[in-house]
Amino acid sequence: MCGIVGYVGPQQAQDVVVEGLRRLEYRGYDSAGVALVSGGAIADAKKAGKLANLEKELADRPLPASGTGIGHTRWATHGAPNDVNAHPHLGHDRRVGLVHNGIIENFADLRARLEADGHVLLSETDTEIVAHLVELQVASGVDLTTAMQRVCQVLEGAFTLVAVDAEDPDRVVAARRNSPLVVGLGEGENFLGSDVAAFIEHTRDALELGQDTVVTITRDGVEVTDFHGAPVEGTRYHVDWDLSAAEKDGHDWFMRKEIFEQPRAVADSLLGRRSQAGLLQLDEMRLSDDEIRDIDKVIIIAAGTSFYAGMVAKYAIEHWTRIPVEVELSSEFRYRDPILDHSTLVVAISQSGETADTLQAIRHARTQRSRVLAICNTNGSTIPRESDAVIYTHAGPEIGVASTKGFLTQLVACYLLALYVAQVKGTRYGDEIDEVMRQLEAIPGHIETVLAGAEQVYDLAREHVGTRSVLFLGRHAGYPVALEGALKLKEIAYLHAEGFAAGELKHGPIALVEEGLPILCVVPPRGRDQLHEKMISGIQEVRARGARTICLAEEGDTRIEPYADALVRLPRVPVLLQPLVATVPLQLFACELATALGHDVDQPRNLAKSVTVE
Ligand code: M6R
Repeated sequence: MCGIVGYVGPQQAQDVVVEGLRRLEYRGYDSAGVALVSGGAIADAKKAGKLANLEKELADRPLPASGTGIGHTRWATHGAPNDVNAHPHLGHDRRVGLVHNGIIENFADLRARLEADGHVLLSETDTEIVAHLVELQVASGVDLTTAMQRVCQVLEGAFTLVAVDAEDPDRVVAARRNSPLVVGLGEGENFLGSDVAAFIEHTRDALELGQDTVVTITRDGVEVTDFHGAPVEGTRYHVDWDLSAAEKDGHDWFMRKEIFEQPRAVADSLLGRRSQAGLLQLDEMRLSDDEIRDIDKVIIIAAGTSFYAGMVAKYAIEHWTRIPVEVELSSEFRYRDPILDHSTLVVAISQSGETADTLQAIRHARTQRSRVLAICNTNGSTIPRESDAVIYTHAGPEIGVASTKGFLTQLVACYLLALYVAQVKGTRYGDEIDEVMRQLEAIPGHIETVLAGAEQVYDLAREHVGTRSVLFLGRHAGYPVALEGALKLKEIAYLHAEGFAAGELKHGPIALVEEGLPILCVVPPRGRDQLHEKMISGIQEVRARGARTICLAEEGDTRIEPYADALVRLPRVPVLLQPLVATVPLQLFACELATALGHDVDQPRNLAKSVTVE
């Protein structure tokens, strides 16, 4: 949700900043802009729409050479996505240029005060007032760092701010509260970015910043303080992926590339999870065995796709550990006065680690003395930093706005958590845990098999170009898969799509079924329970009303054949692990259908990759 870049060094800042914005564009693409410090003035350019519009503007009207600059790619909150509201925003005298990610909650008051003092504000944004406030401070004689510290003291809400001062050409100053910001450490140059992708081609050494910090970068130095000027330490780390992970690698979309990366991502997420003695180990987790034995309830909080991973986790955790699990949308969690105490484990699932709803939910949980465990893909992000424990998912950077490998690796982490708790609590025998681990370790190969059949799914997708509505059915762990399949289609194909628990259909939604309506059915594996047969009953009910069924069913399931207008085969895996293979054709289906419809799959309208506002 908004990408932010800052640079000081010997290179042309415009090139470094625009390249950084290209890598952050997945965070927002309503507008883009840059501001450079040159010859005692701020030179800026900004354009509504995608970064390409800004690049064209810069090609037509190049900015002067400069080694100091900031940039922004926007996901609009205050004000329409037009040129005027695009960042950077400048102070009254064009001395300070500033970009912002987040929401300044007391902006109306601050704006009224500025206007009463004669300031003319050009945009509808909350950001422009901060540019004016910082400029007032530097005009009073303090340096940009002090100005930023003072202004942060009066701001409420969530923000990452990055600013330059026309009269202080070798300094970029940034601040963060509840919004992401990381420093890239170079040789004779330094970088700022909403995430490391912004500068990964220049350096893989990064500095993680704590909450409520101000950071000043110059060519040779990085200084971090709190909002009152007291020095604080950042945490240095080395990024374990490189530029190639942030490139499309011959694919048309990042999303497609990330779908095809899933065998590797799942394998990486499983790597090193067993000790030499064969016991499950979760090194980074930081919860003692006693703390785990103490858990008598699990509450999973997450949003979007991560929420569906949480729904799958409920089946796994309850089955293997017999601990009751609630799954809750993070945006709803703290408003329902949840019952929490020290023996409740709150599991926050977030690919980005920055989702504001989830962050606020874990803060609430911690005030109630619950332990919080984060399942997260982004090293150094806020949610794992503010949690008691963490399991990283090791999917590598996910750039497509629609989550794919993020989801599958979250599932892996949830299974690992469930099995680990079962091991510690002794609710499952070691050989059973061992058997599930071997089944999990076979999953990358199974995903390869599904991907090898991609053409069949693409053909099916292209057949549905004229379709206006698609339903998805599942049961048990296949129900969240149905919801996830529907979400993918909504997000990138802009189609009406809904997922249902197959047994629930007859209680109302079946009224939606009409002649020719495509319904994708996630068929559970055949087992001792009645799931498979009950699913077939549900499929019969919709076929009787004219629906066209596309069934995802395991190899060797001949019973399903008479009920499937089209049949996509899945490798045979246990029902609890089936989401790891059944989700993949649904991702391929959505990606191909959106492509056939001519949509921008990686940057779907109205969305942003990480949602850092509540
Ligand atoms: O980064 P998070 O996992 O916390 O993000 C949660 C949702 O915003 C995210 O899963 C969203 O639903 C994706 N665009 C789904 O594809």
